[in-house]
Amino acid sequence: MKFPPSTTATALYLLISCTLPTSHAWGSLGHETIAYIASNFVSPATQSLFQTILHNQTSSYLAGVATWADSFRYTAAGRFSAPFHFIDAEDDPPASCGVVYARDCPVEGCVVGAIRNYTAQLLDADLGAGNRNMAAKFVIHFVGDIHQPLHDESLDRGGNSILVTFDNVQTNLHHVWDSNIPEKLIGGYALPDAERWATALTTAIKTGVYKTDAESWLQGIDLSDPVGTSIRWAEEANQFVCQTVLPEGKDAVVGKELGGEYYEAAVPVIELQVARAGYRLARWLDLIAAGGKTEF
Ligand SMILES: *[C@@H]1O[C@H](CO)[C@@H](O)[C@H](O)[C@H]1NC(C)=O
Ligand SMILES: *[C@@H]1O[C@H](CO)[C@@H](O)[C@H](O)[C@H]1NC(C)=O
Ligand SMILES: [Zn+2]
Repeated sequence: MKFPPSTTATALYLLISCTLPTSHAWGSLGHETIAYIASNFVSPATQSLFQTILHNQTSSYLAGVATWADSFRYTAAGRFSAPFHFIDAEDDPPASCGVVYARDCPVEGCVVGAIRNYTAQLLDADLGAGNRNMAAKFVIHFVGDIHQPLHDESLDRGGNSILVTFDNVQTNLHHVWDSNIPEKLIGGYALPDAERWATALTTAIKTGVYKTDAESWLQGIDLSDPVGTSIRWAEEANQFVCQTVLPEGKDAVVGKELGGEYYEAAVPVIELQVARAGYRLARWLDLIAAGGKTEF
């Protein structure tokens, strides 16, 4: 088929935008690892509450639903939830990073507002079982999303429009942070891979490299102030956009191979953010379980 030049460009653009991976979150590996870490730290009462809400008595009760929100957003019924996966900080990396709730969370919503909304729903004793199940799945997912630096950045749609290569495969910067780096590090993306990574990070929190810092990760967590709590998580992750994601600006990564030195520099940040997300999710679910008026 022949196209006039402008149509060819449009067709090419459509082809590219259809073939590029369009994930907008940590890939399944990141989300499931965060969920497994959380299940390693929650109290027995929290575990029992969420196993009931999620109708799953196995040790994978959180991990099994951790990516549900990323499928739901692409359904007609779930389209309203698409803006809930991120907060588009209108900052200026690498010169200046920062998230401002009033500036960056639009009326359609954002991840900070969504954490507030679905946490409040979980605390509402009158919420029906179906909505409670959905609210739990959203909270589990969004606490993960907010820890991915490019979910707290507006530049080029959170890096989705920054085309790069990773180990010789064409992709985009957002996908590199969501999936390529974690999957290269762990060597897979199935549920058992996530469980294995979570076990390693759980040990690092309990007795290893994160032991001294882990308690400080929980500072400022306040169930009565979900916006204040989660905007801090967003600000902390967003700082990595200036420090590690785009330390020399966008032009330094466009069209570049990121599977080498870039990968090496990103790995410690990704491991830290996944560990923090899991540890904080455990505390958040514990607070919900303790503070909620839900009866069992
Ligand atoms: C619990 O979740 C795991 C992980 O998704 C799944 O393999 C298992 O079938 C679930 N069990 C039940 C009873 O739904
Ligand atoms: C809160 O949750 C409800 C139910 O899913 C949803 O309809 C509404 O848009 C959400 N509001 C915000 C601000 O996230
Ligand atoms: Zn997401």
